[in-house]
Amino acid sequence: MTSTVRAPTSHPELLRWIEETAALCRPDRIHWCDGSKAEYDRLCEESVRRGSFVRLDAKKRPNCFLVRSHPSDVARVEDRTFICSRRREDAGPTNNWTAPDEMKRTLRGHFDGSMRGRTMYVIPFSMGPIGSPIAQIGVEITDSPYVVVNMSIMTRVGTAVLEVLGRDGFFVPCLHSVGAPLAPGQADVPWPCDPKVKYICHFPETREIWSYGSGYGGNALLGKKCLSLRIASVMARDGGWFAEHMLIVGLEDPQGRKTYMAGAFPSACGKTNLAMIRPPKGFEGWRAYTVGDDIAWIKPAADGSLRAINAEAGFFGVAPGTSWESNPTAMETLRENIIFTNVAQTDDNDVWWEGLGPPPKHALDWQGKDWTPDAGRPAAHANSRFTAPARQCPSIDPSWEDPAGVPISAFLFGGRLSRTFPLVFEAFDWKHGVFLAATMGSEATAAAFNQASIRRDPFAMLPFAGYNMADYWKHWLQMEERGYRLPRIFRVNWFRKDDEGKFLWPGYGQNMRVLRWITERVRGEGGAVDSPLGRVPRHEDLCWDGLELTKEAYRRLVQIPRAGVRAEADALKSFFAQFGDRLPAGMEHQRAALEVRAETMPEVWEPE
Ligand code: OXD
Ligand code: MN
Repeated sequence: MTSTVRAPTSHPELLRWIEETAALCRPDRIHWCDGSKAEYDRLCEESVRRGSFVRLDAKKRPNCFLVRSHPSDVARVEDRTFICSRRREDAGPTNNWTAPDEMKRTLRGHFDGSMRGRTMYVIPFSMGPIGSPIAQIGVEITDSPYVVVNMSIMTRVGTAVLEVLGRDGFFVPCLHSVGAPLAPGQADVPWPCDPKVKYICHFPETREIWSYGSGYGGNALLGKKCLSLRIASVMARDGGWFAEHMLIVGLEDPQGRKTYMAGAFPSACGKTNLAMIRPPKGFEGWRAYTVGDDIAWIKPAADGSLRAINAEAGFFGVAPGTSWESNPTAMETLRENIIFTNVAQTDDNDVWWEGLGPPPKHALDWQGKDWTPDAGRPAAHANSRFTAPARQCPSIDPSWEDPAGVPISAFLFGGRLSRTFPLVFEAFDWKHGVFLAATMGSEATAAAFNQASIRRDPFAMLPFAGYNMADYWKHWLQMEERGYRLPRIFRVNWFRKDDEGKFLWPGYGQNMRVLRWITERVRGEGGAVDSPLGRVPRHEDLCWDGLELTKEAYRRLVQIPRAGVRAEADALKSFFAQFGDRLPAGMEHQRAALEVRAETMPEVWEPE
């Protein structure tokens, strides 16, 4: 039988939902989360006792824990993710769809009794600073203590949220169960989940989320991808703003002038690294500040500027590849109060992952099995993660919690492309910029004849748009008609290679040279020349203090072969075709214009 505690709210709709859900899921207990440190500590301690969490060395990693997931529950499950709009065409061709009534019937069957033997936690949370006009409130119901502690790092949780919600405030109900009820007397497992059945479902019209069967990251921390992107993108379309899969970074020049930019990159393209960039040698007097690394909510302000908040309060970063070399700021952030998931555990009770530095002679791998460097398998899972409070980040921007957000001057879009696309280019105008963002992507496989096909990931939102992608483009295009001061749009590509397959650009901190040029462009200062793809800086337009990169090397980094442009204009035909008559006419105009530029350009375009 469910034992209830007095609810810390008198919001009738919230109370009704909690009651209904408890009646369906039948937990043993209900716990309202207050978001306190005591609550966090107690849940971690209980999880250690149950064998779900490992406490790491108190000196090396104070207040840090390692968690190992079930081997089958290690990543987002896009094939089990559904946008359940009333009409199929509103979900569009890039989303899985089931009618809402049918999906709810199926889900009710799975949630029926799914929390037996467990505690049902109620997590009131705010995405964005509590009370900010850009923020939104959600309430997650979950039976996973791992979700509770991760949510208290990634969002703002607790009683203050309920105060803002009042008696009739709007909230997004987010229902989650790992789908592993316990029979009386049955012992729990370290990572309960349903290894067979998973559903990550979004109901855009009623703004609801139901997630069943997985305890992992983006499937279970429902404030993140589910609310902040899939549901919020629909709210943003209806309300005239943007909910984007973007980092936010602020650059300060030696005169103290600050420029903020937001950037979209597909998963695992170095977003966290760019959000935490450190100015390289030669950039003395410059500073870079982190506002967010994954989710930006951007709203027009009264003065016509676009202002952005980081919807989150923490970083859920990919561990492998993070090192003192690639991202010293992240390494400093990871010193204490971190939850590590699926990394390796060293013999001195610290963590390790591929790319961190020399491997330990022996460790326990992400599944807790003995591991040595000659094991022939990675020690950490490729998608192993750290959950880190943003306030611990040494480069966190002083304004990162400003309820009004920070003013955005530029949008950056990038993927991994080894050829054709220059290091950086600026869109000719807003419409062209939307086209560049809609057609971005990364190379899938380098197939025969050095031909690589591009897996499109429009706006890095392919798995995250909560409605028809073509309508999402229309929403972006329409922003131009509203008279706002819109940011300039840029494409970047850190991954250009030479004919031998070697990277032509050093990346990481050196990307600051590109960001600096962008700050100059938005102030109307930096130089550029028109190319068939957009406006490209010449060698002399970038700052080379502290880095030797010859004119010849630069030429190879930005040259554009006609064959590549032709192939791009051609490939976009079938990409656009899947959207049928929902495709905004402006997108096809842009594609056709690119085709014309391909025909009139030289065999190889170069900046001079
Ligand atoms: C993420 C992702 O976890 O984009 O941020 O997959
Ligand atoms: Mn992401």
